[in-house]
Amino acid sequence: MADSRIYIPTRRRPAQPINDGDAAARRDFHRSLPGYRATPLLQLRSLAAESGVAGIYVKDEAERLGLPAFKMLGASWATARAIQRDWAPDIPLTLDALRAALADRLRRRLAAATDGNHGRGVARMAALLDLDCDVFVPAGTADSRIADIESEGARVTVVDGTYDDTVRRSAEEADERTLVISDTSWPGYLDTPRDVIRGYATMFEEVDDALARSGLPAPTHLFVQAGVGAFAAAAISHYDDSRRSGNSRRPTTVVVEPIDADCLLRSAENDEVTEAPGPHRSTMAGLNCGLPSLLAWPTVQGGTDAYIAISDGRAHSAMRTLATEGLVSGESGAAALAGLQALLDDRAAAEQLGLDDTSVVLVVNTEGATDPVNYRSQLAEDPQATRDAAHVRRQARRVIDLSPEG
Ligand SMILES: Cc1ncc(COP(=O)(O)O)c(C=O)c1O
Repeated sequence: MADSRIYIPTRRRPAQPINDGDAAARRDFHRSLPGYRATPLLQLRSLAAESGVAGIYVKDEAERLGLPAFKMLGASWATARAIQRDWAPDIPLTLDALRAALADRLRRRLAAATDGNHGRGVARMAALLDLDCDVFVPAGTADSRIADIESEGARVTVVDGTYDDTVRRSAEEADERTLVISDTSWPGYLDTPRDVIRGYATMFEEVDDALARSGLPAPTHLFVQAGVGAFAAAAISHYDDSRRSGNSRRPTTVVVEPIDADCLLRSAENDEVTEAPGPHRSTMAGLNCGLPSLLAWPTVQGGTDAYIAISDGRAHSAMRTLATEGLVSGESGAAALAGLQALLDDRAAAEQLGLDDTSVVLVVNTEGATDPVNYRSQLAEDPQATRDAAHVRRQARRVIDLSPEG
């Protein structure tokens, strides 16, 4: 099987960004969460020179709000907003106010479907708010991911099926004392997944802040890994906004998926939502989704310049590249860099997308080593060994940390 497939649509659909009317409240809310700080933005100077581009930035989400992935940004904001909408109208959106509003001991609960990271974020929110939590995962989920969700105090149920079956199962839990916090959408269920997408915007605002502080140029090319497409929709919406406010031009945007869960690429080719049939066996667990989010899809379609489906081998190779740069990444986390590498290997496609020695690329390492067993087998070292060697490797590879503490 080929190790990548690139699809460049010839016809662009109209831009349909998801607007965020409540950005200031969202930022304040994220800052009110325990352990909030802007995650690092790294400039990989040696890798950029070797790749023939002017710059590569990596936003490193290996640790976000005490968890090993970016997903808590969406899970936390969507949970807060759902509580305000359904249980406690008019309360201010801070953790303390939410906790106080829920102190009625009605044994309320959160429920979520996940392939790992989103569910752990919802479970952490439930723990912070003293709520019960049920998380549904697809068969084949790594034991370490299940144990991580349980460590937050949630009950985990393994559903015999794909991630999409798990989503359907979790939706059945909704009742007057249970809020379903899903990162994907279906007919009649849009508010919460929209808030998940809005929650991710905090990350891109941090990128803007770090670049502005360092006097560095905005990205010309953006690579975003996708499962249901909510994260890609957040990236596209953010950069559409900055173009409208005249700060920068919209970056060329490339969506990256696993080869056997390439539902967005297929949907783009068919010009309508199209399923990538299971089983989805990629080790890029966070991206193993057979169906796009109905809410995210028009935004993704209107803002994506190319779709790249990659093999697991490419994701593993990108994990090794990132480790050499002093970064710990999981399979889904490294997928965006793997997409850049696949594009660089196809000169005609790279040229078509204007990727050259003037380009400045942004990728997000969306997770740390969420499957340490596979990390060890792919890199022949522990995540901790990568972390311990990070300083020396970053110096050797001329990696610059652009974050406030960097
Ligand atoms: C680490 C990681 N990266 C990227 C994604 C993709 O996000 P989305 O499903 O919104 O496309 C996920 C989703 O779970 C994830 O866990």
